[in-house]
Amino acid sequence: MSTTDPSPNRVSGSSVPGKILVTGATGSIGAHLVDTLQARGAPFAVMCRRAEQRDSFRARGIEAVEGDFSDPTSIRNAIPGFEQLFLLAPESPDQYHQDTAAIDAAVEAGVRHVVKVSTLDANPTSAIPWARDHARADAHLAATGLRWTRLAPGAFTKNLLELAPAIQFGVLPGTSGNGATSWVDVQDIAEVAARVLCEPELQGDQVGRSYILTGTHPLSFPEIATILGDELGRKIRYVHLPGPVMYASLRLSGLPHWQARGLVRQFVDVVRRGADQGRVHTFELDELLGHRPRGIADLVHSHRADFTRHR
Ligand SMILES: NC(=O)c1ccc[n+]([C@@H]2O[C@H](COP(=O)([O-])OP(=O)(O)OC[C@H]3O[C@@H](n4cnc5c(N)ncnc54)[C@H](OP(=O)(O)O)[C@@H]3O)[C@@H](O)[C@H]2O)c1
Repeated sequence: MSTTDPSPNRVSGSSVPGKILVTGATGSIGAHLVDTLQARGAPFAVMCRRAEQRDSFRARGIEAVEGDFSDPTSIRNAIPGFEQLFLLAPESPDQYHQDTAAIDAAVEAGVRHVVKVSTLDANPTSAIPWARDHARADAHLAATGLRWTRLAPGAFTKNLLELAPAIQFGVLPGTSGNGATSWVDVQDIAEVAARVLCEPELQGDQVGRSYILTGTHPLSFPEIATILGDELGRKIRYVHLPGPVMYASLRLSGLPHWQARGLVRQFVDVVRRGADQGRVHTFELDELLGHRPRGIADLVHSHRADFTRHR
């Protein structure tokens, strides 16, 4: 694309960004993105699937439209009128079709720029469903000719909240041994997404742009146990679980088969063995944020009560 391209969201760094539709707005990245866009005064609306969610956004003065990823027609109806799409499809067995239906609807509606949340370990032949689906949907987006920006974050620090009941008892269970991966805070991802949506010079064009978002340097579970212990002021012990035991405990905690199996594969292949960029560390997040990325200690500071046993 030439630098004289007249698209409205590329005029200058100080211009009003093209109107944004935020999907996943009630989720962990999305909620922070909404706050950040609102604070910046950016033009945007959220897409949500339930009437009470729309009412609650509207009560905050935020435009809200109806859309459900499991209903492609509703997505086609939601997108027209927006110049930019923040695309965050939740993990599901149908993630690839949900992502690509939204991308196709964006093309049909004449959207100018799509910011897609992907994953660090995206790989079209991965045994991990979401890593495979993201890679294939990223490729689908790249083939559209749309301007696109891909955010590829490492593991979310907030995932550790799911282990809070064990951590309360001084135990960090895992199946990745001394294997390490980088950890990133969802608020940091949201801050980057807001910058990319509002600052055209950070956006990709038809050849696209990927930001590899790694917050911490690669950390193993034993190292995380040490950080948790230091921050909580008590001993947290890493307990290694064999893959089948981890799978059984995830199933018992209510996860469906595809998700429990995918998580075990992710711990074993990506974290323990370092496959698919699992140990990559870049400074793109630091540069985009302009501040130190939040890490595990910051998670403890903001969720201390979750990690503390109440007698
Ligand atoms: N967890 C990780 O470590 C990690 C690492 C890298 C990448 N990722 C990627 O990050 C994304 C998840 O981000 P997140 O943690 O911010 O998500 P999240 O907190 O799980 O939130 C999911 C969002 O999607 C919405 N949603 C769910 N089903 C929907 C549907 N059928 N139609 C419309 N909206 C629907 C939810 O709305 P409701 O309130 O209606 O449910 C919510 O707003 C996934 O694509 C995942 O692959 C995750």
